[in-house]
Amino acid sequence: MQVINKDTRYYIQKENAFGAHNYHPMPIVFDRGKGVYIWDVEGRQYYDFLSAYSAVNQGHCHPRIVKALMEQAQKLTLSSRAFYNSQLGEYEEFITSLFGFDKVLPMNTGAEAVETAIKICRKWAYEKKGIEEDQAEIIVCRGNFHGRTTTICSFSSNPNARNNFGPYTPGFISIDYNDIDALNEVLNENRNIAGFLVEPIQGEAGVNVPSDGYLAKAKMLCEQNNVLFVADEIQTGIARTGKMLAIDHEGICADILILSLIHI
Ligand SMILES: Cc1ncc(COP(=O)(O)O)c(C=O)c1O
Repeated sequence: MQVINKDTRYYIQKENAFGAHNYHPMPIVFDRGKGVYIWDVEGRQYYDFLSAYSAVNQGHCHPRIVKALMEQAQKLTLSSRAFYNSQLGEYEEFITSLFGFDKVLPMNTGAEAVETAIKICRKWAYEKKGIEEDQAEIIVCRGNFHGRTTTICSFSSNPNARNNFGPYTPGFISIDYNDIDALNEVLNENRNIAGFLVEPIQGEAGVNVPSDGYLAKAKMLCEQNNVLFVADEIQTGIARTGKMLAIDHEGICADILILSLIHI
């Protein structure tokens, strides 16, 4: 019988052979994690500073989270939203009071959450702000990363994320990140703006930290122009920048907050 040596190369070859080549990972094969540590398949230990781009801020395999997961999995794994369940309302109360928002809508991925924020902006624009049907526009920043759906890649400035995925979804205006004059100009010129979608710190175009006051001024301009300020804190939220939210550094609130919570 042939003995297969399941080393780093073995697992990398498997992914290369059978998985879509949509990512270019570093050549380390994670096998298990505990708190801040990760071990690879050859037993080498690492600090995990990336923590799945913030999806495991709490550390790997936190015992309380694993326990809750196991208890719930043995009781009820899934229920349709056609019914109520004994967990959702209490979770919604907890999370909205933690962040000071009226309502929450849980999603499976960040991209879905961004899509939902775009839909809320547009619906609000037509039903409350009075923008004519199909004319609403959303301002986004060059260098953004908000996910990989067809609508979101339509307003990406990264050719790898965008090229050859057209036809693209209309209704987005790109401006330079951290350029308050550019935002002011579009808001002054265009009466059909529904929202301004921004990462408080851009995460994929490098780590782009805005100038002091940029976010507060952007929020003020949005208020003055009756435009929703939408903060994508998927990468910056839950204390990744030293405060609960990155926008807390400027003492502002978003009209819509997009957040990544707990994954095991
Ligand atoms: C700022 C930001 N927005 C949106 C997303 C998309 O999240 P997901 O990969 O869960 O769709 C990411 C993912 O890294 C992100 O960093």
